[in-house]
Amino acid sequence: MTATKRSAASSSAVANLAGVVKAWTPSSWQSHTAGQQPDWPDEGDLDRALKQIAGFPPLVFAGEARSLQASLGQVAAGNAFLLQAGDCAESFEEFSAINIREKLRVILQMAVVLTYSLGVPVVKVGRIAGQFAKPRSTPYEQVGDLQLPSFRGHIVNDPMATEAARTPNPERLVQAYHQSASTLNLVRAFTKGGFADLGRVHAWTQEFVASSPEGRRYEQIASEIDRALDFMRACGIDTDSNPNLNQVDVYTSHEALLLGYEEALTRQDSLTGGWYDCSAHMLWIGERTRELDGAHVEFLRGVGNPIGCKIGPTTGTGYVIDLCEKLNPGRIPGRLTLISRMGAANVEQALRPILRAVHDAGHPVVWACDPMHANTFTSATGHKTRDFADICAEIDGFVRAHHAEGTWPGGIHVELTGDNVTECIGGADKILDSQLVDRYHTVCDPRLNARQSLDLAFHVAEMLRTSDLA
Ligand code: PEP
Ligand code: CO
Repeated sequence: MTATKRSAASSSAVANLAGVVKAWTPSSWQSHTAGQQPDWPDEGDLDRALKQIAGFPPLVFAGEARSLQASLGQVAAGNAFLLQAGDCAESFEEFSAINIREKLRVILQMAVVLTYSLGVPVVKVGRIAGQFAKPRSTPYEQVGDLQLPSFRGHIVNDPMATEAARTPNPERLVQAYHQSASTLNLVRAFTKGGFADLGRVHAWTQEFVASSPEGRRYEQIASEIDRALDFMRACGIDTDSNPNLNQVDVYTSHEALLLGYEEALTRQDSLTGGWYDCSAHMLWIGERTRELDGAHVEFLRGVGNPIGCKIGPTTGTGYVIDLCEKLNPGRIPGRLTLISRMGAANVEQALRPILRAVHDAGHPVVWACDPMHANTFTSATGHKTRDFADICAEIDGFVRAHHAEGTWPGGIHVELTGDNVTECIGGADKILDSQLVDRYHTVCDPRLNARQSLDLAFHVAEMLRTSDLA
């Protein structure tokens, strides 16, 4: 840290003490500009829905958010790796036990590959149980002669191209809460009730995975884990009653986009008196709503949860330092995750000065790579897609940037599903543009399918191992 930066940091601490930073309340965001909010047709209906949600039980507890923050602190220190993954947008229609189980299975399989290969704990955070709301590049969409409000996720409206379907409906906020509660209930049951037992890693292998090259690599790891468990049993360690071996923590996260909804689930922790957004363990701010004086930064700066912020290719170093000061003035390790989404071609060059500046300023952040959102394009067949090769290339550039700057490439943030969809091209199956139409099911962005996800985990593990960082 340079002398100038040191004094800048301490003068901002003095400013905090002097009360220059305005007081935060769960509703203080309302006096800031909030981008990407739906145009609700009736304020009264919106208020009624939000009041109802404010009376509902919290979805998560403050203590759980603190545990996640402690684990993320280990990631910030270079002792663990973050796997944040799940849907781009959860759907009211594709809501079933099988859908949730398959998504979880892929996340757990990726985590096994990463844990085994890197030899460090993997912190598992789903884009799940609340990841509904979507920012859009334009508020309206032209469909034939109709100008319709854009689809903003099932929590707001329906994608069907009619005026009625696209009109934001606050009842959907209530439905999203209930779907999140059921989803989280099943995630907790699966992760604590035996499904995640390390002795079952073989059983997680779906048939189509077992028959593929990445499936066989996975099988090999599963066999080695079985042998390690046998060895531990032979040494007298009771693996069946050891929660570290038969339970896992899978935390929830989503983009905190609809601030009224987030405020309604923000509760004061009886233990510490702090405020927590109890809609998920971790919340993040999207690329389109990260203005320093905007409502989203204002809201998240005051909650005790671990938080994230996406940073795109135009992000400046000065901005990132200001953001760190604002969101994590106490410099708590694990409090702030910066999720870069720069694009495969830009990441190495764009990220390096940011890594250096944050490191020099002494901010302990978790660095995660979202290799999806800046590598999206429209294919010749008219599908919004991503190329598996670009996704790998962005991760490679991210790891190289960290290697060059001596910082820890702490994790990945990806959009995936457990289903055998055809939404991203490439990967082991070499999905072609012409095949996208076969099983293109996403309600928003194209996701990696189960096979591509596992393939990606192997790629990340290899990249990290060969770059001498793990
Ligand atoms: C997302 O994560 O789905 C998203 C919209 O990302 P970004 O804010 O980075 O564009
Ligand atoms: Co997305």
